Amino acid sequence: MGNKNLVLVAGATGGVGQLVVSKLLERNMSVLALTRNRDKANQMFDSRVEIAVGDLRYPNTLTEVTKGATQIICCTGTTAFPSTRWDFVNIFNAQNTPQEVDAKGVKNLVEAADKNLDRFVFISSCGVLRKNNFPFNILNAFGVLDAKLEGETVIKASGLPYTIIRPARLIDGPYTSYDLNSLLKAKTDGKKAVVIGTGDTLNGETSRIDVANACVACLDYDTTINKTFEIINSGERPTKINWEQLFSQI
Ligand SMILES: NC(=O)c1ccc[n+]([C@@H]2O[C@H](COP(=O)([O-])OP(=O)(O)OC[C@H]3O[C@@H](n4cnc5c(N)ncnc54)[C@H](OP(=O)(O)O)[C@@H]3O)[C@@H](O)[C@H]2O)c1
Repeated sequence: MGNKNLVLVAGATGGVGQLVVSKLLERNMSVLALTRNRDKANQMFDSRVEIAVGDLRYPNTLTEVTKGATQIICCTGTTAFPSTRWDFVNIFNAQNTPQEVDAKGVKNLVEAADKNLDRFVFISSCGVLRKNNFPFNILNAFGVLDAKLEGETVIKASGLPYTIIRPARLIDGPYTSYDLNSLLKAKTDGKKAVVIGTGDTLNGETSRIDVANACVACLDYDTTINKTFEIINSGERPTKINWEQLFSQI
């Protein structure tokens, strides 16, 4: 995978998003970081990546941004429960809720994507198929799992080659106080092995580092095209994660 690739990372300033950007840069891939806040992204990425300003809730901010992107990795998200992150109201006076970001926003991004896109990688969530079971019924009190599932459905129906990654409760980071150089130097790796599953049966925790690893590694393997999988950390971590073998299970 070389420099002909331009990877659009939506939610690039978030916990997983920052790690995705740093892992793409390690591979010398060109990155376009999508953010609502140019100053925040400039400070974080230190001119190492191109920055585009856009808001998933406004389709017209996405049209230009998606042009030329060969892959999109969508790491956007908001809080599952009401918080100050919801306070970012749009012109229709809608808050930045899961329904606006994970459902409508993802739909807008899918619709703006180049029809020849090589891959649309989406971070969803464990529990989307178990919304009535504890603890997911609590997590879904304000509709975050409904919205993630809506996002998944739109992606699957789009005809774009996709990979949907469903982590469990995220641990490690977000590294919001780090700059990119610290992230690159950190070379942190999750402390436990990676376990991948299908059919939404896994429970546990997932390192943001391994979610980012999976987002980038899946681009190397056609076996992950049009696949959906869960990812958690459990057991003793091997010296090197064998993504090819893990992905062969899906
Ligand atoms: N937390 C968990 O336990 C958990 C569990 C399962 C799945 N997930 C999912 O995992 C992913 C990564 O989580 P994280 O905690 O690393 O993310 P995060 O730190 O909360 O970052 C989310 C990013 O989304 C961007 N964003 C929010 N609203 C937006 C909008 N309207 N338009 C464009 N961008 C917007 C923000 O970027 P700007 O402010 O720069 O625009 C922010 O950096 C998310 O999809 C989350 O839903 C989380």
